[in-house]
Amino acid sequence: MKDLTPSRDSLEPIEIASIDEIRATQLERMKWSVRHAYENVPMYRKRFDDAGVHPDDLQSLSDLAKFPFTYKNDLRDNYPFGLFAVPQKEIVRIHGSSGTTGKPTVVGYTKGDIDMWANMVARSMRASGTRPGDIAHIAYGYGLFTGGLGAHYGAERLGCTVVPVSGGQTERQVTLIEDFKPSTIMVTPSYMLNILEQYKKIGIDPRESSLQVGIFGAEPWTNAMRTEVEEAFDMHAVDIYGLSEIMGPGVANECVETKDGLHVWEDHFYPEIIDPETGEVLPDGEMGELVFTTLTKEGLPMIRYRTRDLTRLLPGTARSMRRMEKITGRSDDMIILRGVNVFPSQIEEQVLSIPEIAPHFQIELARIDRKDVMSIRVETTPENSSAEVVAAASKMLSKKIKDVVGVSTRIEIGQPGSVERSQGKARRVIDNRPKE
Ligand code: DLL
Repeated sequence: MKDLTPSRDSLEPIEIASIDEIRATQLERMKWSVRHAYENVPMYRKRFDDAGVHPDDLQSLSDLAKFPFTYKNDLRDNYPFGLFAVPQKEIVRIHGSSGTTGKPTVVGYTKGDIDMWANMVARSMRASGTRPGDIAHIAYGYGLFTGGLGAHYGAERLGCTVVPVSGGQTERQVTLIEDFKPSTIMVTPSYMLNILEQYKKIGIDPRESSLQVGIFGAEPWTNAMRTEVEEAFDMHAVDIYGLSEIMGPGVANECVETKDGLHVWEDHFYPEIIDPETGEVLPDGEMGELVFTTLTKEGLPMIRYRTRDLTRLLPGTARSMRRMEKITGRSDDMIILRGVNVFPSQIEEQVLSIPEIAPHFQIELARIDRKDVMSIRVETTPENSSAEVVAAASKMLSKKIKDVVGVSTRIEIGQPGSVERSQGKARRVIDNRPKE
């Protein structure tokens, strides 16, 4: 893999500013943001009044803990535009969450918000090793989902030649990569595996492709997956994080030179880690739920938004801003199986540790004889589908999950191609247990 470390002078000064400077910028912006929310969004005014806090009470960054949280349901309760802090005519773009049922959660952006977002994605791409003039293949979905258009504007802002392919049509994705020779691909990690599979199917060596950087996010993925994709394509695999409520992709991003967690772009998004049960703010280094306060968003300011994502904050390395560790999972994705907490990412690590098993998997939960049963659907790689190999691999996976994760599972191992493929975010868990 090529060394793609960006030169120091290509960075924005704030990326390598002193902590004091960053904290001062944050405090000034946070005061503005909290006041903007209070003065322009009835829900915030009522919440703050009910909690007995006022924007004047915010004198230091730690004062933020006095303010109430905001939840996904607040967006639903104020559907569609009730949380916007500017008149609708100043909103130039709407996006929505990728929720599978019911109404989407709606988010809106002013011209200034779109501009800031493009800058943050451009910063993220530069951190990932992409350079102005590079070709960027964007296979995140375009539409209400923030992935496609968010990446698109950022790539243009950085000065790339953008190929807006969107998700799906895997054969065509490979044709375009082979013909246009992009340095960078932006896509969900699970869909990248489909692209890899297509390469193998048509007999082209993916290591010979032009790709040097993959900017993967929108769903949890493990370091084991990183190794798999980096080796398969001889490229850097870098993590990008974001959520529509806060902006979209580009809230935090890894640096290609360190790949040691995602630097949160703290000049625009203030992170806190809290105990999800008590709501108490935890010190840096402790695991908990990530909470964000937007510092510059005009259209939809978010004060202490509960992401449900679980991680911890660590000091800066390649950049001054703090890092968040790769997301382990969401509190609402956590499976409690006979009293043991299990995250799909823990299963992913074990699946990827067995070479005879392909990196695609799905977890199914059922209740049989009043007992919760977890089945893991996997498949063999095309070279390894003999009955003996299948039996041995299946036994090995079950043992590894029992030893490392601590739960007994049923392994359903099928032929290559039998596990459902994702076009965007993978559906990892199918819960067929009766709802109580
Ligand atoms: O997924 C935005 C995005 C698009 C991020 C493209 C990165 C790349 P939502 O659809 O609102 O927005 O979903 C947000 O996805 O709260 C996390 O649970 C999960 N997520 C996003 N990025 C990562 C990541 C986009 N790098 C939700 N690692 C978030 C783990 C991620 N989970």
